[in-house]
Amino acid sequence: MCGIVGYIGKEQAAPFLLDGMSKLEYRGYDSAGIAVMEGAKIRLEKCVGRLEALRAKIAGDMPVGTIGIGHTRWATHGRPCDRNSHPHADSSGKFVVVHNGIIENYLVLKEQLIEKGHVFLSETDTEVVAHLMADLWDGDFESTVKKVLKEIKGSYSLVFMTEYEPKKIICTKKDNPLVIGLGEGENFIASDIPAIISRTRRTFIMSDGEIATVSADGVWVQDINGTPISKKVFVVNWNAEAAEKGGFEHFMLKEIYEQPKAIRDTMTGRVDKETETIAFPELNWTPEMMASINKIFIVACGTAYHAGIVGKYYLEQLARVPVEVDIASEFRYRSPLIDGNTLCIVISQSGETSDTLAALREAKKLGARTLGVTNVVGSAVARESDQVVYTYAGPEIAVASTKAYTTQILAMLMLAIYVGRLRGTLGEARAKELVHGLGLVPEQVHELLENVDQIKVFARQYASCEDAFFLGRSLDYAVALEGALKLKEISYIHAEAYAAGELKHGTLALIVEGVPVIVLATQSDVYDKTVSNLQEVKAREAVVIAIGFVGDEVLKQHADSVIYIPKTDKYIAPLMAVLPLQLLAYYAALTRGCDVDKPRNLAKSVTVE
Ligand code: AGP
Repeated sequence: MCGIVGYIGKEQAAPFLLDGMSKLEYRGYDSAGIAVMEGAKIRLEKCVGRLEALRAKIAGDMPVGTIGIGHTRWATHGRPCDRNSHPHADSSGKFVVVHNGIIENYLVLKEQLIEKGHVFLSETDTEVVAHLMADLWDGDFESTVKKVLKEIKGSYSLVFMTEYEPKKIICTKKDNPLVIGLGEGENFIASDIPAIISRTRRTFIMSDGEIATVSADGVWVQDINGTPISKKVFVVNWNAEAAEKGGFEHFMLKEIYEQPKAIRDTMTGRVDKETETIAFPELNWTPEMMASINKIFIVACGTAYHAGIVGKYYLEQLARVPVEVDIASEFRYRSPLIDGNTLCIVISQSGETSDTLAALREAKKLGARTLGVTNVVGSAVARESDQVVYTYAGPEIAVASTKAYTTQILAMLMLAIYVGRLRGTLGEARAKELVHGLGLVPEQVHELLENVDQIKVFARQYASCEDAFFLGRSLDYAVALEGALKLKEISYIHAEAYAAGELKHGTLALIVEGVPVIVLATQSDVYDKTVSNLQEVKAREAVVIAIGFVGDEVLKQHADSVIYIPKTDKYIAPLMAVLPLQLLAYYAALTRGCDVDKPRNLAKSVTVE
């Protein structure tokens, strides 16, 4: 997610803007910029790279003025480069904006504005907003902002400046965070509290649809209809470190709770709720192209590899294409059978994993078409793949991957529906049913995350165990793999995932009294057999925690405990079933006093082989 700062008051703006952005660096970014009202003109300075590059650019010639806005960019549309950096201005330079989020309908608006003669400099969605301000300018700052908001769709935190009203900043938000810091004769704006906490702890936490006019002397808030809104002052009592985590104890927990937004953002522009269809404007695949693909490889590491296994089930069952899933470090040494009719999908949150990059290069050398699924715009995977599908999970700081995983399997499900429709292997009605189910997921995930007390109890109860098993069949087995990795990598408990039907072929020998076994039972076509496997381990005195759908009356007859997830389509179930496993791992690690965000021996991105 991008970082936003703003200042209006009695002191120079630039020093605060730079300092505020430095407090947001932990979120990850690829470029930075500021805009300051210098006299009657807005001066804009921005560049790709770290904040140091921006500081170097303006060293000795710091913008002079007491009103300004700043931005650290986490690229979503348009690769990292100087001209794609924020702030963005219209052609006259009289309107400037910074933005966090995704303007879903920017392409249509951009075409309309270009036809009117607007000249665009960047590839970003954000620049459209600056040109819209110029196009709709009616002499009144607030009125024009309202007109702009009626034109744009998507998610945003937006902060505006204009030379026409140089003693004001206007800001607004929808589905992205924005706070206003209240000072004495000065006021601050930020996407996140860490940026302002050193200057004030009195804040307005903005809500969706609120439009704030911020001057040095005060803040006036209204809705889009002009109705005044009275804001309650929220006094921040977090310390700076806690503020970076949004009040959560760890980045991992913060990122677990960011999953409703990450899932919503990754669906944006791809899931059409009205027509209940899936589109990938960035792919524009055709039925002919898809008919020519006779095999798909999915190659990745760790959690991304587990997302690939889920993707295999989706693509084989919905698009009826043979799929092989490989661990990247194995793929490149096994002389895979690849030709021009092979599609190789590489999945990587960071887009920089060495083994995955090497596999991608090997696949390309063998003639495969390649598709990167990554969370980082402009990463090596994005640059080197023939095409790329981005997940929009925002920066993932914790070593243990959570929101990246759920957005990766979401991307794979949307891709499988998209390809299944192109190949004619997935009927329209079934596709609509799946898309409808996807539309419900963000709220279902949100509700699930609001009821975690039982999971905390289990985690504390079994945190002293040295072994744990995760069982499942079909997609439940794929999710069990991810659950075992989460527990292993942050709590250091030895955990294994097993295909439930395979247990009796050896591993059952390890199931003794008191061993915790988590059994996933969301897949209706193998449900009865999964319950039988649950009974097998129960008969050997294991302690069984089952994961099943709300309303399931069978599991509680056999398991010691059941964690219920919202009822959903079996293909959508992994998006829900993984959440209790993430939380079990988190609270077990907490109970064991482990370093949750930085587990021993591990790195966030493994850029060595
Ligand atoms: C997962 O929690 C780990 N952090 C690790 O397995 C990770 O998924 C793996 O290193 C792949 O990283 P990538 O997605 O950035 O390529």
